[in-house]
Amino acid sequence: MGEILGLGITHFPGMAPDPPGPRSLKRTLSDPGLPERYRTPQGWPEQMRAEWSTDEGAAHAIQHRDTVVAGLRRARQTLDAFKPDLMVVWGDDQYENFREDVVPAFTVLAYDEVEVHPWAHQIGARNYWHEPEDVAFRLKGHKAAAKRLATGLLGEDFDVAYAYRPLHQDLGHAFINSVLYLDWDRRGFDYPMVAMPINCYGRGVIAMRGYMASLEHPLAEADMDPPSPSPARCYDLGAACARILAASPWRVALVASSSWSHAFLTAKHYYLYPDTDADRQLYAALESADYAAWRRRSLSQVEDSGQQELLNWFCLMGAMAELNRKPTYSEFIPSHIMNSNKVIATFEP
Ligand SMILES: [Fe+2]
Repeated sequence: MGEILGLGITHFPGMAPDPPGPRSLKRTLSDPGLPERYRTPQGWPEQMRAEWSTDEGAAHAIQHRDTVVAGLRRARQTLDAFKPDLMVVWGDDQYENFREDVVPAFTVLAYDEVEVHPWAHQIGARNYWHEPEDVAFRLKGHKAAAKRLATGLLGEDFDVAYAYRPLHQDLGHAFINSVLYLDWDRRGFDYPMVAMPINCYGRGVIAMRGYMASLEHPLAEADMDPPSPSPARCYDLGAACARILAASPWRVALVASSSWSHAFLTAKHYYLYPDTDADRQLYAALESADYAAWRRRSLSQVEDSGQQELLNWFCLMGAMAELNRKPTYSEFIPSHIMNSNKVIATFEP
């Protein structure tokens, strides 16, 4: 019989630049459509003003990154102690392989291995490790486990897509960064990964190219795409993954990879800062293993709070509910100016 470890991490691209900084916030501040009263710190919430401070957020950015890295190191220790045969990662595809030609709700990537070029996609900034732009990493996949997972899900009436090779880009940033960050100290990372991209960006995956809207040129409703899968469907799919893999011969780490509410997706805050109240509600439910509270969230609540990427965590919550698992460690790492709050969590057997 298989054994399952649950992990929740982030793949926030803003961790990698050296030095880090509030890049998407600066983009919003330069949007001509932003009302003038929000263009300076006087119009911002107190926490945001404190983070911005007198150095445009430079010190907060480093402290935020270092706190997240400490959490990731802890997640890696837990992963190593568990000795997985593979990890299955739920992550979003932000107009990377989900493009105009096909946008599946859920996909299982059944690769033997894939060569990735992380800095070829995330251009414009020197990275923390000073790795050259053409550096390549070979990431192991696990085709047999991926096929077993897709077969099991289809057998439970979850109509997942699967793929044997990339369509447009070697691998989405959610998956590349998950490995690069779990290997922050560059000791090497040998665990095979089955990536499971989810169409978290839904109504904005093509319309906004999986990124942020313009305040100057807002999109009309008719320009938006069909929605993502619902939080409840993600939750139920996660539960099914846990059942299928717990009955497999493998030790599997089930990993949700994403930050929580995103400023650049929170229209009610003019894309300036995330919906921290909504994040704290869900975090309290995670801490107390009140997973049913997660399943009750509607997609419109998730979209209103800029929590589109949190659909990855809805999968993890469904899986942990299925296994009757409580968190063994968790940490809420808030930031208004670094686009999103981050959470690191482990659910050990
Ligand atoms: Fe993402």
